[in-house]
Amino acid sequence: MITPDTIEKIMDAVRIEEVVGEFVSLKRRGVNLVGLCPFHNEKTPSFSVSAPKGIFKCFGCGKGGNAVNFLMEHEHYTYPEALRYLAQKYNIEIEEERPSPEQQQAMDLKESLFNVSAFAQKYFEERLHESEEGRSIALTYLKERGFTTEVIRRFGLGYCPGAWDDFTQTALKNGYKKEYLQMASLSKSKDQMLYDTFRDRIIFPIHNLSGRVLGFGGRILTNEKNRPKYINSAESEIYQKSKVLYGIYFAKSQMVALDNCYLVEGYTDVIALHQAGITNVIATSGTALTTDQIKLIRRYTSNVTLLFDGDPAGIKAAFRGLDLILEEGLNVRVVLFPDGEDPDSFAREKRPAEVRSFVEEQAADFVSFKTSLLLEETKDDPIRKAQLIKEIAKTIALIPEPIARSIYVQKCSTMMGVEEQLMVSEVNRIRREKLKNKHRQETPGGEDMGPEPDDRRAAPQKQEPEEANHRPEQEIIRLLLNHGGKEIIFEVENEDKRMEEVAVTVAEFILQDIRSDGLLPDNPACQAIFNEYAVCWEQKKLPTHSIFTEHQNDEVRKLAIDLLTSQHTLSKNWEHRHKIYVKEEEEELKVRVLYAVYAFKLQKLEKMLAEIQQKIRDASLQTSENDEMLLELMKDQRDLLEKRRAFAHELDRVVTR
Ligand code: CTP
Ligand code: MN
Repeated sequence: MITPDTIEKIMDAVRIEEVVGEFVSLKRRGVNLVGLCPFHNEKTPSFSVSAPKGIFKCFGCGKGGNAVNFLMEHEHYTYPEALRYLAQKYNIEIEEERPSPEQQQAMDLKESLFNVSAFAQKYFEERLHESEEGRSIALTYLKERGFTTEVIRRFGLGYCPGAWDDFTQTALKNGYKKEYLQMASLSKSKDQMLYDTFRDRIIFPIHNLSGRVLGFGGRILTNEKNRPKYINSAESEIYQKSKVLYGIYFAKSQMVALDNCYLVEGYTDVIALHQAGITNVIATSGTALTTDQIKLIRRYTSNVTLLFDGDPAGIKAAFRGLDLILEEGLNVRVVLFPDGEDPDSFAREKRPAEVRSFVEEQAADFVSFKTSLLLEETKDDPIRKAQLIKEIAKTIALIPEPIARSIYVQKCSTMMGVEEQLMVSEVNRIRREKLKNKHRQETPGGEDMGPEPDDRRAAPQKQEPEEANHRPEQEIIRLLLNHGGKEIIFEVENEDKRMEEVAVTVAEFILQDIRSDGLLPDNPACQAIFNEYAVCWEQKKLPTHSIFTEHQNDEVRKLAIDLLTSQHTLSKNWEHRHKIYVKEEEEELKVRVLYAVYAFKLQKLEKMLAEIQQKIRDASLQTSENDEMLLELMKDQRDLLEKRRAFAHELDRVVTR
């Protein structure tokens, strides 16, 4: 564990332009430095580095952050790895803190499992290449399948001999503990005896992102039907199936370089494609893709091409697995292999160049692929065509990005020969429905989804509990405290009537926007933090957390600590009633800030409106001498209603963007 002191020293020494400059060629433009973004393909520079702020930002792809974020993103370092890199670069000695006994124990266990797995991998590999049995049975098999020694070595393939416990005994002799052998699925016990889990199998080691072995798959060498074709490591402290993708260690740099990856089903498909020169390839190892795996892919690229067997089962599989990927916002393309072929068998028959051009030429975007396939089935049957439109709309509705959605709507309606507007409204209908279901599922008590922004007036004037009344302002304070210094990007029109992106800090935006309307939070603690924050900000300083967390006022201290420690202080219920999608905080920062500011103002407005309406009631009960005042009040009311309508509209636009 690197100490906080060291981290501070590192962060103080870091010059972002020097760090980024090692990977990107930067040119000065005004106060900033610009270059070609290393995270997406571009011809004109939209990647900008601000030395005084210590941050980078790409206006093309939206990536941004500090030097550590840059290294994590660009070099795929973990947080400590990035810190170590920087420490070395700036000659800072790293002080490490002793981990707690529990932390130590967990680390020891993981380390032991890694160690025993590394030992096993070496053993298996050695047996494959050096032992008589391995060479004659296993190596021959792999060579017959067309794998070269080079690729066999690269993936560290191995062989576990057929003897009952040769591996286990060797490991024990080398000092590896029985319990770790079992936890790593390498040995099993039967009648008090330990035997080799993978005996008489070809071994495919499974690597993590940094190339350490986490687990194994073992394939039998025959076509026997009564033994499982593969045995795989069970889950352990270091191996979680749903979070691992086979081949990712060997694929990741090319996934970034080519901004695409090929997703296949099996170990052998990955290896065969590598051999054909396609190295940005990963496998799910026969199971359905999980959200964690998709997130892992997205660290390197947001384009996935699925390689599928062209038989009906393969096509069905393509349809099924896809919703999840689309929902996560990745672009999906599909390549179908000729009936009965998988990437491995195809690669065996064709020359590498043929394989490469096949996958490149055949790749069709998934939505068009699905449309054309289903279109073929429907022929000219109008009823089935109506079903088809619904079916395709369902798929398109999954795509979170509105621009991508509208492109697909355009494309598919052309393909199907239907009016675009028809598809648009069907897609929107499905999205609305889904949103509603989501609320219903996640809102305890069912139907009550609260007022839609447009018909607030119709909502019953329920008295919310005191705490709920402070939520919008608490959210404002929470955003200031947690994210005040971060930047959000807005599009504004410049003098030449061109749209230009402008970065504003969260603090600047919130403080200016709210104060320009002369508003203040009601709750005393919120108000205190807001005011003290504003004072610092006016002196061009970002207040430290400690000003508030060590504040002499108990209420302020308590609130600040609460807001700094909880991820989202808004209750789920409240958020869902207001249709907000809670994505990862950072990603949605701008939406959250806009939403919070509007919600805060709207609440204030409601209050003023209620007061005026009360006055109107009072005034109208009195005599006609009050006519003038009544007119005045009515005018105020109209203004407020108009403002409220505009706010509600803005709010709606922000959350349903
Ligand atoms: N798989 C598994 N257990 C099985 C069958 C399959 O874990 N009993 C997983 C393996 O990860 C395998 C993938 O599913 O790689 C795809 O299965 P399959 O196509 O049957 O295997 P291949 O790896 O293609 O093996 P081969 O080409 O040698 O038949
Ligand atoms: Mn196969």
